[in-house]
Amino acid sequence: MKSNEISRRRFIGTLAAATTGVVASGITPVFANSLDTTDKPAILGGTPVRGSKKWLQWPQWDAEKFNPKMNEVMGNRVWSRSKNVAEFEKKWSGMHGTKHCLTTVNGTNALSAAWMQLDIGPGDEIICSPYTFSASIFGILYKGAMPVFADIDPETFQIDPKQIEKKITPKTKGILPVHICGYPSDMPTIMKIAKKHNLYVVEDACQAHLAEIGGKKVGTFGNAGCFSFQASKNLPIGEGGAILTNDTEYYDRLYSYHNFGYASGSVSGQISSISALILANKIRMAEYQAVIGLCQMEKLEEQHKKRNENGAYLNEKLAAYPGVTPVKLHKGATSASYYIYAMVYNQDKLDGLPRQRFIDAIRAEGVPMATGYPNDPLYAQPMISEVFKSDFYKNSYTAGELDFEKYKEDNHCPELIKTYNSSLWMWQGGLMLGSKSDMDDIINAFDKVHNNVAKLK
Ligand SMILES: Cc1ncc(COP(=O)(O)O)c(C=O)c1O
Repeated sequence: MKSNEISRRRFIGTLAAATTGVVASGITPVFANSLDTTDKPAILGGTPVRGSKKWLQWPQWDAEKFNPKMNEVMGNRVWSRSKNVAEFEKKWSGMHGTKHCLTTVNGTNALSAAWMQLDIGPGDEIICSPYTFSASIFGILYKGAMPVFADIDPETFQIDPKQIEKKITPKTKGILPVHICGYPSDMPTIMKIAKKHNLYVVEDACQAHLAEIGGKKVGTFGNAGCFSFQASKNLPIGEGGAILTNDTEYYDRLYSYHNFGYASGSVSGQISSISALILANKIRMAEYQAVIGLCQMEKLEEQHKKRNENGAYLNEKLAAYPGVTPVKLHKGATSASYYIYAMVYNQDKLDGLPRQRFIDAIRAEGVPMATGYPNDPLYAQPMISEVFKSDFYKNSYTAGELDFEKYKEDNHCPELIKTYNSSLWMWQGGLMLGSKSDMDDIINAFDKVHNNVAKLK
């Protein structure tokens, strides 16, 4: 009898009461280097699966290759927006097959700019994914519009098109899907709804670099697709953002907006070169940001492939473990960015083992894991009640519409709350770029924790 068969038996024995019916799926633990996953868990003093092995660091920087490029831009003394920013934009739009790309200082401002330059305002409703954080909706609030939240599909974590349809009213003006964790939202269905009701769509693709649906990249479906290049992201610059669009007039307005409102294409008619033609901002990417981005972009496609190979491997292996269900890709979704490798935890299938205890045990084995966003839905955050108290909103809405308690009730998303309380996140960092043996360590950590549920409780 092979060691994995022994362990498999013990595993079934341990969990049989809690997992009846699950065992048929068949668990195939990896058992690298004669590891016995029935051993004492690291959290109880056993030897960690990972030993002292380190994960790849993130962000990555090949100093020998890239420092000369950085030195060049710094030595040139052209640090504000110039040819490197333009090159980055050309490459990013080229990679996505869109007409235009406009870079910004970060993803938050990409999203805000995208909404600022669409024709929305007081009295309009924008249907938003609730599984995100404040940065996704600032722009909607700046415009005086009302964010309305449609619940997520708990299996994909993405805004559920069926819930979107339920929230459509004559006031609806737009939709904000957020490709959260880097898994694609169901854009084909969302675009059908948008077309039917003549709605704007701004995609928050800040976590979803190169993720695809039927070979078409996210961020290219809606009026605008917004990206973040913050340091943790799959294309890390430290700070940086971009907006993709195929609409040239909209792009001209976005360009003008990001540059003091100065003339840009169809935004014209200035009397001097510093005439502000539209109410604007200054959110331009700097040359040194663009150089960092261009260096990172060199490896992005290859890294994306690797993350997807690792994601598919983990999906296949971890699917067999009761109580931890990898987040599903939509049918039609052809790749994810795996910015976060996400799972749903069901403690009932692990004999009542609390989620936090499970996470602590996995972490003790040397595998980084977190709960994900805390249970703090956007629709209940103080930001909204503060906005509702402003004269801007008070002049635009009735007292009933600005009743925060009622707003929270109307926008309550039960699947979101369940997800807050059951998600497991493994942030990609270097993790999703690891070797097959790194992935096997992850599986072995799960195997070990599953084998020791009774001891861990
Ligand atoms: C879903 C989402 N939206 C918006 C943002 C904002 O991007 P940034 O941090 O670049 O401003 C981020 C990243 O932090 C994000 O993850």
